[in-house]
Amino acid sequence: MTAPAHHDVMPYQIADETFLITWGLDAPPVGHFPMHSLLIRSKEPVLVDTGAPACRERWLATVAALVDPADVRWVFLSHDDRDHAGNLLPVLAACPNATLLTNWFSLGRMAEEWETPLSRCRFVNDGDQVDVGDRVLVAVRPPLFDNPTTRGLFDASTGVYWSVDTFATNTPHRMLEADDLSDGEFRDGQLLGARLIAPWHRYLDQSKWDTCVDAVRRLGATTMAGCHSPVLRGQRIDEAFNLMRQLPALDPWREFDQSDLDRWLADAGALSEPSIPAH
Ligand SMILES: [Fe+2]
Ligand SMILES: [Fe+2]
Repeated sequence: MTAPAHHDVMPYQIADETFLITWGLDAPPVGHFPMHSLLIRSKEPVLVDTGAPACRERWLATVAALVDPADVRWVFLSHDDRDHAGNLLPVLAACPNATLLTNWFSLGRMAEEWETPLSRCRFVNDGDQVDVGDRVLVAVRPPLFDNPTTRGLFDASTGVYWSVDTFATNTPHRMLEADDLSDGEFRDGQLLGARLIAPWHRYLDQSKWDTCVDAVRRLGATTMAGCHSPVLRGQRIDEAFNLMRQLPALDPWREFDQSDLDRWLADAGALSEPSIPAH
């Protein structure tokens, strides 16, 4: 598969009738972060998250090329962060027959910006199941998250787990498969991404954390798809869970500070502002 142009939105099939809607943002000086969402073309098609406002029109057009928006029956919202919920109302407008799978706290948090139509909602909490016609999907909270409303989604029929922000990683450039990273890039990226989205890692009790990680590992997912990661399969899944176990003992990631910003601006001649990593 040819790597996509840097900021294009494009589909990428990862399993039977299962497509990433891929996008990405540069994140100097650490490279690039994926910014994906997902489409499951089950009997009753499911959109998993809604993409970011910055790529709204291209995101909607990419989805529409894969599925008739009128056929979309479900929109699963993993949480209300902008990179996942930023196109929610346009998606609901484009998909008039879709029911929104969300939760109470997400609705409240989004009310800061818009009113989500309650009549189109169904509450789906951690552990709840959704029958989508030819399979049953289950909401499973991933181990790492940056928003309290987060739930992932597991499709046992394909082995695909939507891990939301878990397994976030920077990549040297846009890439779609974790196997394309070197072992060192994969390790460093997992540990950077995890500490970026979950700076609370150092407050974790190791034995409780192991139990939490193992609960998701026991799902037996064979394909891990997340918003901010290339697709994980095979050995990379085992490696990712093993790295995640190390988090309670890791030092915090050293945040960039004003001296870094001063240097970047000086290097750029203050002609343009560097962008900051998205979450
Ligand atoms: Fe998030
Ligand atoms: Fe995210």
